[in-house]
Amino acid sequence: MSHKKRIAIFASGTGSNFEAITVACEEGRVPADVVAMVCDKPAARVVERAALHGVETFAFDPKSFPSKAEMECAIADFLDERNVDLVCLAGYMRIISDTLLSRYGGRIINIHPSLLPAFQGARAVERAMEYGVKIFGVTIHYVDQTVDGGKIIAQRAFPYEGDDIDELFGLIHAVEHQLYPETITRLLAD
Ligand code: GRF
Repeated sequence: MSHKKRIAIFASGTGSNFEAITVACEEGRVPADVVAMVCDKPAARVVERAALHGVETFAFDPKSFPSKAEMECAIADFLDERNVDLVCLAGYMRIISDTLLSRYGGRIINIHPSLLPAFQGARAVERAMEYGVKIFGVTIHYVDQTVDGGKIIAQRAFPYEGDDIDELFGLIHAVEHQLYPETITRLLAD
């Protein structure tokens, strides 16, 4: 019988972090299985990635639910049915609210492309560059009722003084793809 922990990843876009975590699990670097992917944009690239890795997907149009509570209830049921231990948000562009927090609170983590609490919310990398920041970074934190305000689990910083946003995004992603699998491994060991 497998004692591996079961991870669900929530994403809305490209899914490079989905890929990094899933491959780390497949290669045994993270002692867990990615058993579910939740996506609020059925046409997103991450849906194709999940199919390629054989990860069961719940992709939905939020407008098809009468309310956010019913949408989150359906998500929580999907997670329950798959015995999910840990939810990893990776570019999921929706705020998690009470319905899901009441059932999975303390077991949902998020990755954010800034050194929180600086630059919470959308366009964090662009805003940090516009602000003239010289030390960039990535934060992984617990998800609570706030936007990017939950307790910090891990951070990694690096200097960047250029002005090429695409280059900066590349550096951020490279850090994320290392830090997220490492942090999940550490959390699961605790
Ligand atoms: C990442 O930069 C993450 O920090 C942010 O959304 C982005 C998702 O990228 N929350 P990807 O879809 O995993 O490539």
